[in-house]
Amino acid sequence: MDRIVITGGAPLTGVLPISGAKNAALPLMIASLLTGDTLELANVPRLADVQLLLRILGNHGVDHTVVGRRPGESAETGQTLRLCASTIIDTTAPYELVSRMRASFWVIAPLVARFGEARVSLPGGCAIGTRPVDLLILALERLGAQIEIEAGDVVARTPKGLKGAEIVFPKVTVSGTHVAMMAAVLANGTTVIENAAREPEIVDVADCLNKMGAKVSGAGTPTIVIEGVPRLGGARHEVLPDRIETGTYAMAVAMAGGDVLLENARAPLLQSALDTLVQAGVTIDPTNAGIRVARNGAGLDPVDVTTEPFPGFPTDLQAQLMALMTRAKGTSRIRETIFENRFMHVQELARLGARIRLDGDLATVEGVERLRGAPVMATDLRASVSLVIAGLAAEGETTINRVYHLDRGFEALEAKLTRCGAQVERVRG
Ligand code: EPZ
Repeated sequence: MDRIVITGGAPLTGVLPISGAKNAALPLMIASLLTGDTLELANVPRLADVQLLLRILGNHGVDHTVVGRRPGESAETGQTLRLCASTIIDTTAPYELVSRMRASFWVIAPLVARFGEARVSLPGGCAIGTRPVDLLILALERLGAQIEIEAGDVVARTPKGLKGAEIVFPKVTVSGTHVAMMAAVLANGTTVIENAAREPEIVDVADCLNKMGAKVSGAGTPTIVIEGVPRLGGARHEVLPDRIETGTYAMAVAMAGGDVLLENARAPLLQSALDTLVQAGVTIDPTNAGIRVARNGAGLDPVDVTTEPFPGFPTDLQAQLMALMTRAKGTSRIRETIFENRFMHVQELARLGARIRLDGDLATVEGVERLRGAPVMATDLRASVSLVIAGLAAEGETTINRVYHLDRGFEALEAKLTRCGAQVERVRG
């Protein structure tokens, strides 16, 4: 297995391009199942999760082509995918595939909406908590789907098609909102989703669905209204920039020091995280080209943060912020409220010399003078990248094992960091 070796201490300077958002690209690709026409998606990041989802969609019969690289494009600029679900050969998504990527469970919504049936394996456990799918099932049932669990699979059937309904989510859920939206666009009548997730990726998917002929309004607010239409057509859509990648590299610059333009980044997509960085003493300067992030020699101030659904501080940046705060001048408190088991990075950060105390959902981080490099590993994507951030400031070498987690969600990580002056190397295993 590949490893990443980081020699800490180098500041970051220059321009770092931000890729298309993984968590928008995945549901957008799944939305291709809603039409027999071609959906063209631009700025799709080159990630292992995207490749895996292409395989899963291919299993259903979706054809895809990767549009050839255009002048000026490199391995670090997103790809354009054309997806065509004109002939679906199988409405079943098996355990071997779904268990490797939870988001692939969401195919249940377009499949049942367009074909009246779907059989999708329950995704099973995952490193950051139990992550049930009860609210996704609730949404489909509200729309009139009959749901049964058979041999570990969720089987959804709608002999008479889906019917618009009111769906009130008892808690904010990104997955539930995606599934409700993708099912309701082809339902007969009007659907109202209350307490909907407001994440920018929901808005991006709604925009794309509307280009395909859907009638979705209110995405980005807690109430989404969808008037069902009988069919959707093809469209072209560009994936929005990745706010989690943006926040991650902003924290990397804050950690290593330096001055970097995060090209294509959009500040409103992660205002709460940027506000936290400003509070910590980092210079954040949104420009037309992106967001400039700088920190000179001054130390970082500690912060108190609680993860929340958008527009609050994102859980997907919690590990990275914790890595950053290990070097703050004082004690930070970081509370994780979205996932119950998302502190797997704490023990690994401790191996680098961090002082973190865990008490339920609260991590208390006492800033230390220095971190020292060590071999570490992580069990999920964001935890892995928090170790990269720590490694950038640690003395000596930090070796990060299980790099496949990083490859799932960070496009060209070593190339992007190296170009800004970091000493990062991939050792093929
Ligand atoms: C999405 O996961 C993201 N994944 C996650 O990013 C992200 O951390 C999360 O939203 C929160 O922002 C993708 O977009 C592919 P949820 P999702 O449904 O949709 C509970 C990453 O690193 N819940 O909003 O699965 C759930 O257990 C990943 O890129 C139920 O109880 O998150 C959690 O506590 C990790 N029942 C909370 O709701 C359900 O049926 C929020 O989950 C569904 C969810």
